[in-house]
Amino acid sequence: MKNDIKEILLTEEQIKTKVAELGAQISKDYKGKDLIVICILKGATPFMADLIREIKIPMAIDFMAVSSYGVSTQSSGVVRILKDLDTGIENKDVLIIEDIVDSGLTLKYLLENLSSRKANSVKVCTFLEKTERREINVIPDYKGYDIPNEFVVGYGLDFAEKYRNLPYIGVLKPEIYS
Ligand code: XMP
Ligand code: MG
Repeated sequence: MKNDIKEILLTEEQIKTKVAELGAQISKDYKGKDLIVICILKGATPFMADLIREIKIPMAIDFMAVSSYGVSTQSSGVVRILKDLDTGIENKDVLIIEDIVDSGLTLKYLLENLSSRKANSVKVCTFLEKTERREINVIPDYKGYDIPNEFVVGYGLDFAEKYRNLPYIGVLKPEIYS
């Protein structure tokens, strides 16, 4: 697995530090609110598991799985729900947890979909953002790191379902996916 990685972009140490910072900020901002954190499967699972242990206020979790069609390294913009929430979010303060915001198409869909369910608020926390690739004007409320426009894997992010278990964020060698 390690041989397929060109370069380590973010180390375990950098990830840990940033997640603690985000958790502290979220704990402060959501104090006294009815927080429900929604993990977008599958990529956001390691991030959400680490993040919720840095959130020091009462909260709930739920999961949603969405997919754009195909297994390419590009988002198609056509999003479908593979697994919906188990619980209603009416009057709750929703925080969507994403692994990465790339074109922004997935996030736009999620925001529109969840906002229509009468939540008190809907915000977004993404671990990574590829700002230069944004096609749609959606801005995450909380963000770990801005990364350059390269295909990354690890810490939940996959290529064809592999590499999610790497404990760091790495750039995949182009020969692996081309
Ligand atoms: P959009 O373009 O809709 O993309 O913002 C969001 C989804 O696309 C996937 N994605 C990646 N997955 N390495 C990955 O493993 C990447 O560099 C990458 N860029 C986008 C990801 O599933 C994300 O939720
Ligand atoms: Mg993926």
